[in-house]
Amino acid sequence: MPAYAVIGAQWGDEGKGKIIDFLAENAAVIARYSGGNNAGHTVINDAGTFKLHLVPSGICWPHVMNVIGNGVVVDPDVLLKEISENKLDPSRLAVSDRAHLIMPYHVALDRLEEQRRGSSAIGTTGRGVGPAYVDKVSRLGLRVGELLDPEDLSLRLPDIVAFKNEIITKIYGGEPIELDSVFELTMRWATELAAFIRPVEDLIAEVLESDGNVIIEGAQGALLDLDHGTYPYVTSSNPTVGGSLTGLGMGPNSYGGVAGVYKAYCTRVGAGPFPTEIEGELGDRIREMAGEFGVTTGRARRIGWFDGVAGRYAARVNGFDGMIITRLDTLDGWEEIKVCVAYEIDGVRTDQFPVDAVMLSRAKPVYETIPGWTESTRAITRASQLNSGAKAYIERLEDLVGVQAKIISTGPRREETLVLTDLIPK
Ligand code: IMP
Repeated sequence: MPAYAVIGAQWGDEGKGKIIDFLAENAAVIARYSGGNNAGHTVINDAGTFKLHLVPSGICWPHVMNVIGNGVVVDPDVLLKEISENKLDPSRLAVSDRAHLIMPYHVALDRLEEQRRGSSAIGTTGRGVGPAYVDKVSRLGLRVGELLDPEDLSLRLPDIVAFKNEIITKIYGGEPIELDSVFELTMRWATELAAFIRPVEDLIAEVLESDGNVIIEGAQGALLDLDHGTYPYVTSSNPTVGGSLTGLGMGPNSYGGVAGVYKAYCTRVGAGPFPTEIEGELGDRIREMAGEFGVTTGRARRIGWFDGVAGRYAARVNGFDGMIITRLDTLDGWEEIKVCVAYEIDGVRTDQFPVDAVMLSRAKPVYETIPGWTESTRAITRASQLNSGAKAYIERLEDLVGVQAKIISTGPRREETLVLTDLIPK
């Protein structure tokens, strides 16, 4: 059976967790391939409300194997907490031996570097994600599998910790990290995580060769992608679909579909250009009404109108063949809704998304105003229940993005979902 990718199409927080939990009923494996515990995925179903940072959003289905791929950076303390809170065992969760570890010095360096940048800070989540990826590329990283070889670890750690302490103390003026405590930490992690560590490429290949569906769970979003996002205001990995090939060790012909998750409006956390941002009282009102606060950091999310230019760009760099629209119900009752159909940059109208953050910050959105609707879309599950205003809005988004809408989320709960076309053929 093929793999289906579900990818964030904006700046993260599009509601991927809810969608993955919904789709996981028909999956054998849910696999994460990028990012770390900078992510925050919320799942709400009959079993309760789950706020997940690292474990995939398939954990509420007992038949699902949840996989953390090699492209993810893992803070074992966060992972162990989620394992214990959700009573996961190795029959339901596997962590790639090649995933890189987020070490205490990565967390320290993330925060120190943000302080150093001052007013040009990225607004990271402060979880050590960026510095862990830096070490991966520098060939100084430690991989999850190395926890199983304490002798080798005891040989490598002193040099790495000494080098990191030079940077922490001499460049940033921070407090050094104690080698002994780091080593003890890794020994505890090794004991508690050992049973979950395995080469997940084989596991995924076996499922694909047999009858199971693999659903690939994106974290963050296309516009935060290290290569395709609004650099430098991006995360340090590739949330776009390309990241899932390397982040899980799969070939492109395994994919049966790639769907993009779009919120019916836009949000962004952290710094960086956001052309359709709604500042002031209206933005505050929407934030409060929609509860737009980060799952990981609790930070207020910036609010904006749907950006068709950025949306089309995200569809192109991911090759989306389906659109999943979330939080449609949040727009219920609005008199009119704005949608950005083009930008004006230095007096010139364009429908091209400038990846350059400086140029993007000069982009003035060209809006189209769409009439709102008074009827509620909350919890509707059939296309026939969709009022004409909401339908017209969805059609306009499809038109702008250039991709067919397949699923509409009409509330936070699993069952508050309207399937227009099956994403995974039955
Ligand atoms: P980092 O990934 O913690 O390094 O943060 C880099 C940028 O990505 C910051 O603007 C964060 O706010 C943003 N970011 C990282 N993860 C998420 C997420 O899951 N949702 C929304 N924004 C995120």
